[in-house]
Amino acid sequence: MMGALDFTNRIKQMGATDGIGKQYALQLAEQGLNIVLIGRSPEKLKATESEVRMRSNVQVKTVVVDYSGGREIYDDVERELAGLEIGVLVNNVGMGYARMSEFLDMERDLHLRMLNVNMMSCVAMTYIVLPQMVERKRGLVINIASLAGVVPHPFVATYSATKVFVCFFSRILKQEYKEKGIQFQLVTPGFVSTNMTSQRDVSAGCPTAETYVRSAIATVGLQSRTAGYLMHDLFGAAIQLYSERALLKELKNEMIKFKAKQCKSE
Ligand SMILES: NC(=O)c1ccc[n+]([C@@H]2O[C@H](COP(=O)([O-])OP(=O)(O)OC[C@H]3O[C@@H](n4cnc5c(N)ncnc54)[C@H](OP(=O)(O)O)[C@@H]3O)[C@@H](O)[C@H]2O)c1
Repeated sequence: MMGALDFTNRIKQMGATDGIGKQYALQLAEQGLNIVLIGRSPEKLKATESEVRMRSNVQVKTVVVDYSGGREIYDDVERELAGLEIGVLVNNVGMGYARMSEFLDMERDLHLRMLNVNMMSCVAMTYIVLPQMVERKRGLVINIASLAGVVPHPFVATYSATKVFVCFFSRILKQEYKEKGIQFQLVTPGFVSTNMTSQRDVSAGCPTAETYVRSAIATVGLQSRTAGYLMHDLFGAAIQLYSERALLKELKNEMIKFKAKQCKSE
């Protein structure tokens, strides 16, 4: 595993101030990688920077960016990263729904912001970082998608569709760039207890972000496509055995139960 990350002198981590992204930053810093944290909240970036520094003796840079913006945000990001040697890019940033809803129950702008945060960020950040990796003939891009990108999830339609995009983007670039020495790893988590899942109860199927990322990092260099966590891999394999119709019915029932629970706790 260390071998796989060995080529990395600096990791750039997007959506790094909480949940899964923050854990990638903390745990890769533990392995001696310098870190660039990118997030939208200066306060949360400062707090994460302090935590990384407290736990690891590495250099940390922070960049404030709100990825719900469009094309205009990326010139600044590119300027901030100019001259830095980036060995690993973690395309982690993502937004979901505050609560599951049918498509039309959600504002149009929320759907559109989700496209920017979940998909445009992935394309634009890869475009900024990949050329220097290709030049050095080494690099690792970790793309965080979701099980919702592997099987269609009702009540989170746009989210699920954005994750399909991330899955295909990652799998295709892996093929295009493998002979140029670049590794693309596609990670498709199931439920992880984070803000995105309203800190869902931790269980065997829903680990903490820390446990999840320890498991996911251990797959780097070994698996180019993984759920990142054994229970999620098993669950993913099991639900793919269903027909799409049966699966949609099952998931719809699950979502209705989850939605009812969410409403009760509000
Ligand atoms: N948790 C799960 O069950 C689960 C399952 C499958 C896939 N995933 C994927 O895993 C990734 C991380 O999710 P998570 O569960 O760790 O979520 P999270 O705890 O909500 O963390 C998301 C991170 O992204 C940042 N972020 C959100 N919107 C942003 C924006 N517009 N601009 C800049 N930064 C922004 C957040 O910043 P703030 O702290 O400022 O909000 C936070 O640092 C996402 O891509 C998600 O789709 C999660």
